[in-house]
Amino acid sequence: MMHYNTTEPEELKHWSFSETEFDPLALAKCESIMSLGNGYMGLRSAAEESYIGEKRNLFINGTFNKFDQYEVTELPNAADITRLDIRIDGVRFSLERGEVREYRRLLNLRDAELVRGFVWEYQGKRIRFEFRRYVSLAHKHEIGMRMTVTPLNGRISLSVTSGIDGQVSNSGSQHFHEGEKRIYDKTYIELIQTTTESKIDFVLGAAHRLFIGGTEANLEPKMDIDRRRVAVTYTVDLEQGQTLEFEKAAAVFTSRDLEFAEGPRLDDIREMMLAALKEQHAAGYERRFEDHRRAWEKVWDQYRVSIKSAEPFDQLAVRFAIYHLVIMTPSHDRRMGIGAKGLTGEGYKGHSFWDTEIFILPFYIYTNPPVARSLLEYRYLGLEGARSKALQNGYSGAMYPWEAAWPSDGEVTPEWGQVDIVTGKQTRIWSGVIEQHITSDIAYAVWHYYMATGDQEFMDSFGYEMILDTAKFWASRLEWNEEQQTYHINNVVGPDEYKEHVNNNAFTNYMAHFNIRLAMTYAEELRVQKPALFDRLNSKLGVEAAMDEWSDKIGRIYLPKPNQDGIIPQDDTYLQKKLVDLTPYKSQAKVGSIFDDYNLDQVGEMQVSKQADIMMLFFLLEDQFPLDVKKANYDYYEEKTLHDSSLSLSTHCILANDLGDRELAYRLFRRAAEIDLGPYMHSSDAGVHSASLGGIWKCIVMGFAGVRMLGGALHMNPRLPEAWEEVSFPLYWRGHRIEVHLDRTRISLNTDSEEELTLIIGGNPVKLTGALQLSY
Ligand code: BGC
Repeated sequence: MMHYNTTEPEELKHWSFSETEFDPLALAKCESIMSLGNGYMGLRSAAEESYIGEKRNLFINGTFNKFDQYEVTELPNAADITRLDIRIDGVRFSLERGEVREYRRLLNLRDAELVRGFVWEYQGKRIRFEFRRYVSLAHKHEIGMRMTVTPLNGRISLSVTSGIDGQVSNSGSQHFHEGEKRIYDKTYIELIQTTTESKIDFVLGAAHRLFIGGTEANLEPKMDIDRRRVAVTYTVDLEQGQTLEFEKAAAVFTSRDLEFAEGPRLDDIREMMLAALKEQHAAGYERRFEDHRRAWEKVWDQYRVSIKSAEPFDQLAVRFAIYHLVIMTPSHDRRMGIGAKGLTGEGYKGHSFWDTEIFILPFYIYTNPPVARSLLEYRYLGLEGARSKALQNGYSGAMYPWEAAWPSDGEVTPEWGQVDIVTGKQTRIWSGVIEQHITSDIAYAVWHYYMATGDQEFMDSFGYEMILDTAKFWASRLEWNEEQQTYHINNVVGPDEYKEHVNNNAFTNYMAHFNIRLAMTYAEELRVQKPALFDRLNSKLGVEAAMDEWSDKIGRIYLPKPNQDGIIPQDDTYLQKKLVDLTPYKSQAKVGSIFDDYNLDQVGEMQVSKQADIMMLFFLLEDQFPLDVKKANYDYYEEKTLHDSSLSLSTHCILANDLGDRELAYRLFRRAAEIDLGPYMHSSDAGVHSASLGGIWKCIVMGFAGVRMLGGALHMNPRLPEAWEEVSFPLYWRGHRIEVHLDRTRISLNTDSEEELTLIIGGNPVKLTGALQLSY
C-alpha cells in the first residue's frame, strides 16, 4: 500500500512517500519508483533480504552489451551489492514470515535516501530493523548502506552475509564472463566482471564496518568465494536493547568511464576503485551521506518548482519527476543518452527514444542548458550510426535509429515483441524500420535548444551539421506521387503506434517538411554569413547539391489539410477506419486492455490511437495551426486516444489547457502524474516512465504557466488550474536565469541579466531587466 502526502515526518512533508505495508506480490512498484541513482549508475530498490519475484538491478550508464547475435544490445545488470543474508538464531530473516509491525519504506526525495524500518516478531523474538541507502551524487562511483538491528525482548545471535553477487542476469541473459574475485586484508572485497561482447570491465568493491552499542567492533569475518560471488559473514551476539550498526561502503568503476576513455588498464581501474572504496569506508556512512545530501541541496536550488495547491500531491509529483530526471541523466558524459525507463529497470533495455528530445529535453533547456547540450551532443555522436542506418536502407544523410544505445551502434530496436492473442505468435516490432519521425524530432530539438539558449558555438560545432544531414535524409525519403503531383512519405509508423504501415502520417510529413525548411534557412544563412563553415559542411555533406534538391521538393511535400469538418487525417486511411465503442478501454485501470480483446492487426483497422499524434503536431508546430482547427481535432481525436503510452497524457493536458478547458487539463495532469506515483501497483514494474516524468514538468511550465518558444521568442500565457494558488520555477533564456512566480492574476519575474530581455506575455512584448511584476 502506497502513501503519498504523508504528513510524517513533518520535515519531509511533500518531499517523501512511503510504502506502509509489505506486499510480496507487488515488489516491483517500490523497486522502480524508489530507485536511487546519479546518472552514472542506477540502483533499483530491491530489499536487502531477497524475495521471489524481485529484480535486483544495478545499471551503469552506457555499458551496453549484446548477449548474442539474436538479441539487441542492452544495459547489463551488474553484480548485486545490496543483498544481505540475515539470520537470527540460525533462522533466515524474511518479512514473509512472522509478524511485521510499524513497517515503512520511504523515499526521501530531498536527500535522495531510501529508508526502511519495522519491528519483526518471530518465534517470540521482537527485533527492530532500520535500513538506509544512497547512491552518491557527490562521489559518482559510490553506494552507501547502513542497517541497524536491535533486539527488543531478549538476546539474539545475529549473522549477516554480505558481499558482491554476480549470479544475476537480465531476465536470464548473462552478459558477463566470470571474473576475478578477491578479498584484501579480510576487509576490501573486489569482484571483476567483463561483458561478453563489448568487453567492458566492471570493477566492483565493498567493505563493511560494524558498531555494537556505539563502539566499533573489529570482527574477523568468515570469507567465502564462490562462482561469480564473493562474500563475508559476520556473526555477533546482541543483548536486549543493544544495537548493531552495520555499514557497507561500495564502489563501482568500469572501463567505459570517461576517465578511462583513452584506453584503460585494468590495474589502473582496480587501483582507483580500491582507493575510492578505502576513502569511503574510512569516512563512514554519515560523513559520506552528508556530501551527498549537500549535492542534492544544489540540485533543488537549480531545478526547484514550488506549487501551492489545494492538492498537496501536485507538489510531491513534480519533486518526484525532477528527482527521477536527475538520477536518470548522464550529465557527466556526452557519450550517453537517457533510457526510456531511466536506470530503474530492464524495460526498453536502457535505449533512448524520442522521449529524450521531445519530453525530457525541454526540462533541461529551460533549467540547466549545459545538460541539454550534452544530451544533444550524444545525438551528434550518434550521426555515425544514423548515417549507416540511412545507407543500409538506401537513403542519404542521417536517419536516426528509433532506439539508440552506444552512439555508433545505429539501430538497436528489437525485432520481436509481445504475444499476438489471436495467432499466438510473437508480434513483429516495426518501429526500428519505419518509425522515422525520430529524425526530425532530433532536428527540432536542436533548433529548440538553439533558439532558447543562443548557443552559437554548439550550432557551429554540431547543430548545423545535424540539421543539414537529417534534411538530406528526408529529401531522399520522399516518394513522388504521379497522380497527385506531390511528394508522399509512405509506409511509416507515426507517434500512434497502433497504426503500422500507413501512408502520409500527418505528424511525420509536417515534421519532415519542417526539418527541410529549417535546413534551407540555415544553409542560406551559413553561405552568406559563415562561408568557411559553409565550405567545411559542404565538402562533408554536399550541402550545395542538397539545397537544389530541397528547393525543388519543399513546395511539393504533401501536408494533410483539415477536411470539411476541420479534421486533419492522421494518415491516408485513418478516417475511413471502423468506429468502435472504446468506453471499456477508456476507463481501463491498466494500459493496453484493448489487447485483451483484439490483436494489433485488428486494432490497426479501427479509429483508435495509442497516444497523442496529431496533438503532438499541434504542440510542436503550434503556430502553423489556427485555434479552431486545434479544437475540432482535439475533440475528434481525444475520444479515440487510449493513452496507452505514458507519453500521451501530458501532451493532451497541455493542449486541453491551451484550448481553455482547465478542468480537463488538470485531470489529465493528475493522471500523468499518477502513472508512476499513483495507486496502480504494476504500472512501473519494468521501470519508471522517463518521458512521462519530463511530461509532468512540461504540463506545469509549458502547460499551466504557458511557457513556449515560438519563432525564436519566449512566450508566457499562464492559465493555472483551479486548485493552484501559486507556482514558481526557474527559467533559463539566452544564458540568463529568470525566476518566475505566478499567482492567479499576477506574474513576477526576476533575472540576473544585465541585458534587456524581451518576453511575450499574454501576446504582448515585455522588456525585462532586474525585476518585473504585472497582471495577466
Ligand atoms: C511509445 C513510444 C515511446 C516508447 C518508449 C512506446 O510505448 O509508443 O512513443 O517512445 O514507448 O517510451
